[in-house]
Amino acid sequence: MKLYFAPMEGITGYIFRTVFAKHFGGADQYYSPFLAPVQDQWMTNRERGDVLPEHNEGIRLVPQIMANRASVFLGTARVLAEMGYQEVNFNCGCPSGTVVAKGKGAGMLRDLDGLRRFLEEACAHAPMEISIKTRLGMREPEEVFDLMEVLQDYPLKEWILHARVREDYYKNQPRRDIFKEVAKECKLPLCYNGDICTVEDFKEMKEMFPQLSGMMIGRGALLDPSLFRRIRGGCAMEKREFAAFHEELCARYEEYMSGDRNTLFKMKELWAYWAYMFPDSSKALKKIRKANSLKVYRQEVEQLLEEN
Ligand SMILES: Cc1cc2nc3c(=O)[nH]c(=O)nc-3n(C[C@H](O)[C@H](O)[C@H](O)COP(=O)(O)O)c2cc1C
Repeated sequence: MKLYFAPMEGITGYIFRTVFAKHFGGADQYYSPFLAPVQDQWMTNRERGDVLPEHNEGIRLVPQIMANRASVFLGTARVLAEMGYQEVNFNCGCPSGTVVAKGKGAGMLRDLDGLRRFLEEACAHAPMEISIKTRLGMREPEEVFDLMEVLQDYPLKEWILHARVREDYYKNQPRRDIFKEVAKECKLPLCYNGDICTVEDFKEMKEMFPQLSGMMIGRGALLDPSLFRRIRGGCAMEKREFAAFHEELCARYEEYMSGDRNTLFKMKELWAYWAYMFPDSSKALKKIRKANSLKVYRQEVEQLLEEN
């Protein structure tokens, strides 16, 4: 069973992915946050930078595309094939209102005939293998059974299933009962995704679903960067490891972005997750959030790590 690092837009860009892989590793594969092409612009410069092979050395990356027209999807897929990619992932799970309103992301699940037409054309002409990442449905988890019927008619490399519906966004419990039914019947290689945050969560899921091709983890690997390694029997994270990871990440963002403001924003976003590693340090965490220069920010992080 393979372990995948989930795509997280705004967080798991190439700098994060490569620094994470160097310090912790443990994931077999990383997925890029979605590329969102439009007609005649298959990729923005920023998106190209994220998937360039020379920016992703040392990791196995699967780029992800979000589109509602197969011709647009194929335009981007061809650029990715020229870069050397042999697999592309199709995003049918993004719950954002503006995305769904355009019939993209989870919005693709609203019209299964449309999805069928999309896959017909994409699978016939894509220069590489296609995997798909979906939710169970738009509103009702039972929608997944009709979705499965559609997906099974196409030669998809893998189906990554986030066991929530669009209406859940990221709330509520993943519907493991429904996922179980899918796992029993599904003929495609199937990967589970949703709320695997501890080694115990992983073990429980693996026992329940030993036949899965993969398990995808997102937020769990932010809450505990050593999670993949621990799942593989490795040791828990040490403070000095986190300090080194944190410093390299901060320095790489600083080099890439102009000015303290953007780097601070990027780093503070991560503290929404990292804060859980320091449950007894609410004062120090507040100071980190309030830091208005990188110098102060680094001092406050150092202070927090000394306290713990
Ligand atoms: C901030 C954030 C950004 C995300 N961006 C993407 C994305 O670009 N593409 C995608 O397929 N899923 C995206 N997701 C969903 C995750 O890949 C994953 O399916 C979800 O977080 C559930 O898995 P987890 O409980 O292991 O985090 C995002 C989730 C979060 C929290």
